[in-house]
This record gives sequence, C-alpha cells and structure tokens, in this order.
Amino acid sequence: MKVLKLLSRLIGVSIGILLMVSCSNREQLLFVESPNGENVLTFQVENGRAYYSVSKKDNEVIDKSLLGFQIANQQDLFDNFVIESFSISSNDTTWEQVWGEQQYVHNQYNELKITLGETLEDSRQLVLVFRMFDDGLGFRYVFPEQVNLNKFQILNELTEFNLAHDADGWGKKAYQPDRYEYLYKKQRVSLLKDTVHTPFTMKSKGGLHLSIHEATLTDYASMTLFRSNETKLNCDLVPWSDGVKVYAQIPFKTPWRTIQIAETAADLISSTMILNLNEPCKLDSTDWVEPAKYIGIWWEMHLGKSTWGQGPNHGATTENTKKYMNFAAEHGFNGVLVEGWNYGWDSNWWENGNDFKFTKPYPDFDIEEITRYGKEKGVDLIGHHETGAAVINYESQLEDAMAYYNKHGVRYIKTGYVNPNGVDHKEWHHGQYMVRHYRNVVEEAAKNNIMLCVHEPIKPTGIRRTYPNMMSREGARGMEFNAWGPDGGNPPNHETILPFTRLLGGPMDFTPGIFELSLEGRENNQVNTTLAKQLALYVVLYSPLHMAADLPENYVGQPAFQFIKDVPVDWSETCVVNGEIGEYVTIARKDRNSDNWFLGSITNEEPRVMEIDLSFLDNNCTYQAIIYADEDDAHYVDNPKALVIQKREVNANDQLKLILAAGGGQAISFVKIK
Ligand code: NOJ
Repeated sequence: MKVLKLLSRLIGVSIGILLMVSCSNREQLLFVESPNGENVLTFQVENGRAYYSVSKKDNEVIDKSLLGFQIANQQDLFDNFVIESFSISSNDTTWEQVWGEQQYVHNQYNELKITLGETLEDSRQLVLVFRMFDDGLGFRYVFPEQVNLNKFQILNELTEFNLAHDADGWGKKAYQPDRYEYLYKKQRVSLLKDTVHTPFTMKSKGGLHLSIHEATLTDYASMTLFRSNETKLNCDLVPWSDGVKVYAQIPFKTPWRTIQIAETAADLISSTMILNLNEPCKLDSTDWVEPAKYIGIWWEMHLGKSTWGQGPNHGATTENTKKYMNFAAEHGFNGVLVEGWNYGWDSNWWENGNDFKFTKPYPDFDIEEITRYGKEKGVDLIGHHETGAAVINYESQLEDAMAYYNKHGVRYIKTGYVNPNGVDHKEWHHGQYMVRHYRNVVEEAAKNNIMLCVHEPIKPTGIRRTYPNMMSREGARGMEFNAWGPDGGNPPNHETILPFTRLLGGPMDFTPGIFELSLEGRENNQVNTTLAKQLALYVVLYSPLHMAADLPENYVGQPAFQFIKDVPVDWSETCVVNGEIGEYVTIARKDRNSDNWFLGSITNEEPRVMEIDLSFLDNNCTYQAIIYADEDDAHYVDNPKALVIQKREVNANDQLKLILAAGGGQAISFVKIK
C-alpha cells in the first residue's frame, strides 16, 4: 500500500484519489482514499474475481475480501470479471436533519465507481460503488439496465469482511425466536461460532474499533455475518421461506455494506456515515414531524397490574386514558401511548395476530371522547398497532387503519410484531418480505402525516434521513425485559453496550425512567440500575421519542422527575465525552431549542470516578449545572434510589468529577445563565 501511495504521488494523481495499475489483463488494481487520506481502499480483479481490501494509516484493516453473488439458474456472478470502466468523484456538502443528535451533518467522501463486465459470451454487468469517508467506508452493488439480466433471484451474496486482525466482538445470535432481543455476547472473532446480527462491533488488540453494518436497507434481505475461517466474516442474507435470499429486477441496488473505523469507542458513536449513505428526505413537507416525550398505559401491563385484553383490569379504558392525559398535561409530556385499545387481544395474540382489528376499539375505549379530551389538554393520543406478526392481516387493513387514526387526529403510532414463530407463521422478521413490509408501513404512515415508533422492527440503517417520520424503534432488549425477563432483567452492562452496537444504526425506543426499581411483587426481577442511571439514559440512548415509562404515581413528589421533564429529545450538537464498550459512556448534547446542554454518564456493575472537562459547553457562557448523582452508598442491587441533587455554576474551562455507583450513572442539566 505504501508503494502504491508513493507511486500515485510521484505520477501526480490528483489528491491521491485513484491509481490504476494494469499488471496484465488478468490483474487490475484501483485505489481510493478517504478525504483525510487515512482510510485507503484497494480494489482488484485477479483471475476474474473481484476483491477489496482496506487500510487505515498504512495498517491493514480488511485483508483481500471477495465480492460477488450466486444467482439462481444462471452462471454465478463472481468468477469471470474484468474492469470495463471506472470513474471517481468527491462530495463535500452539509445537510440539515429534521431532528437528530445534531442539526447539521457534514457529508464528505471520495467515491470510486467501477463497472465490471464478464469474460463470458453473454456478459452481464455489475457496478461497484465505494465511498471512502474519514469515519469508514460504504460500498454497494448496482445492477444496471442490461440485455443479459432482467429478473433474477439472489441465492447468496458472497461479500467477505476478511479482518486483518483478531478482535473482541459484541454479537447477538441471528435466527432466534425473539428476533434482536438478546443480550450481547463478547467473544473473540476468531472463536465466533454464531451467525450474528449487525451492527457487529469489534475492538482489536491495537485499540482500533470497527463496526460492520449496512445502510439504506430498502428492498433486500438484511445482512447477518458468519465466520468462515480464522477472522474472515461472510455476509449471510436472511432468506425467504422458499430459500431465495432476494428477488430482484434491474435496475437494482443493494444496501450499502458499511465498515465504521474509529480509533476510539467514542468516535464510533460520533460517526455520521450511515446517515450520509442514505438518500435525502423524500417527504414534501416535514412541518408535521415532531420529536416527543410521552407516557403510556404500558408499564402497568408489563407489571401485570392491568391487561391488554378485555376484563375487570382492562388498561385501555376511557377513564384511565384521561387520567394519564391529565398527568401528561400537568408535567409537559406530548403524548400518551395506549396499548390494548382495539379488538384482537383476547386470545393468544402473540402467536396468532389474525384477530387484530385496527379500526375497532373495545367498548370501554371511547376514541372520539379521548381524542377530544386530548386536544383540549394539548396531549396527543399515541396510537398502537400490535400485529402479532400477522402481516397479511395487517396489510389488508393498513390503509384504513392509518386513515382511521388520521381521522381522529392521531399523529404517532407505535407498531409491534411479536410472534416467536415468525411472520405469517413462515417468514423471518429480517428477510426481504419484512423489509418490504416495514417500508410500506413507513410510506403509508407518511401519506397520513403519521410518525412511527416500531417494536420488533427491522434494524435501523439510516432510513430516517429519507423518511423522518420513521422516528424510533426497539430492536434490542429494552426496559420491558426488567419486568418479566426470565433471567431477571438486563444486567448493568447492557446499556453500556447498546450505544456502541444497536444504536450505531439509529435511535432506540428503550423506554427509560423507571423510579420504582425494585418492582414490588416481582420476586425474580428488578431494574438493575440506580435511579441516577435511569435519568442518564435519556441522554445516552438517543431517541427523538422518549418515554417516561413508570406508572405516573411513581413520579409524584420525586425531585428527580424534574430531569425527565427538562431533558429535550432533539439536539443541535452531540459530544461523546468518553466511553469503553460494556464499561461506561458519557455523552453531552445541546438542546436544539435553547442554549442548554445536558449530560448523561453511565457505568456497568463497576463503580467509577471520572474527571471530565466541560469544553463542550459554549465558550464565554456561564451555566447552572443541576447535577443528579448517585449518593455515596448507592448501589444498583440494594440501594438504587439513593440520589443527590446538587447545583453549581460552571463554564467551558471547568472540570467536573463524576462519581458513579455500581450500576449507576449521573445526569446533568446545564442551564445557561449568562
Ligand atoms: C412488545 C413490545 O416491545 C412492547 O412494548 C409491547 O407492549 C408489547 N409487544 C405488546 O404490543
């Protein structure tokens, strides 16, 4: 690689973007580097096969890795390639997010586009596009219009990620009944036996952090990864029930395969590459898209205090909803989620969702009166579509269901796809069938000016840039596992892994804010955090829709509740102060609608003392810091509620000592005073 770079400089190739060395017709080599020159991609065709490799600062990151496909009833598309042409381009623009972790996103990359032909009589064409960013790279396959390919079925995508070095990886096993809802397991890549979901995040011995994922998953199967040998990871596409991976018709594009490359764990979180690889917003207007904080008739069901289905303890009654709406109005929440409002919950809904009726409320839920009342109080009713993964049933009602909510002024809908036996009893949640469905729902919702929060979703791949009404989603173990998880709940390190794995794809509806952490009446379960950590999660786990998940009565008279009331859900800037995967993470964010900053810091089961500097604060300003800290004797097991609130004046030149208890955290509001 060094030789190539030197050569390119010697022959004066502009900004060192590209060099083609044609050793013979059988061996061709191209390379392109990131704008700062640190990340270099080499593409080569050797004996008809296409490979890429990646280095950072002259150290190999990805060794020679194969590219290509197996296609049904056709010659495989990986064995007879020649480079027909190539082109380079660069981009350096900035775009504005409708909502997000930061208002403006810098999109700077160098792109190499290669058209491959084949040394066959009926040669087909395949275009490879590589985009090199300072924070990693993305590449995708494009099947252009051509005579020898029209409709086709992908049996396998052969993309390899041949890691140059062994690393620790944080993975979740794919093809499981509870979809993405498992704990992350840390293991050496070289020992990986499971097929794992992405984002798959790794830390090598030398300290380099990598995360493999995808961007723009639009009409394709989602990618999982398996290890074929040593440290080589291979793409594995989630199949349809008939075994086909992807049904395609030209012109056709795959999602981007993404490799985030960062020197620190914190830099992984700051990366905007996945968003940059998505298409700009397609909505005509976004005035109606608004981040929100909400409460809901939800935790009471998970605690078994009320039911989704009809009966004496039915949760979704008009009276109960009004009670929640009163609380929301009093404390400044935008909405109230109501689950269990419609017919379909009275049998085994999680195994058979075919009874769900999305326009038929239960008799004790007067939707007209509720939405009228909500309007009067300035509180949205947040709708709910649990489908039990009966997608044929849901799709047959989708237009009416969205129009029904729209007619009642409902602007947010949470959807759900629980069913351990798969979708429509035969498809995976993560194959092309469901990728198409999830997209269809986003588009149908957009037509009705409805924003979505999807549970049992497809993993996030940056679609929120294109459809900002696709706001938040689950896609990992959230708070609910603490209420009933057979293993007792999420361990304290869980939330210190999520920001470096699941959340690299996009926002998560984790539903933080539990104050009654010991969960009275639940012998084997509790929330394994301190109260201060619950507050910190609002900043650490980014979401434009955040819930205050506890029962309203558990917030009454609690001084710590003020932080949940104050914390915003839309930000103009984000600064990842520190972090190590599975250990701790500290994030500061600036409110998009004021000059105030907020900070969240969390730890795993280890107590920690950290000295941080406040240089993220705006210069020449003074803030009142309202600090919600673990008390000296706080501990997530037996003293989780011990919290102290302190106030002091600070500015950007100050340092702050954060003291976190075992399983603890700290949340700070920095209110600008001058
Ligand atoms: C699973 C979701 O994650 C949860 O939030 C919801 O309450 C239930 N499904 C019922 O829809």
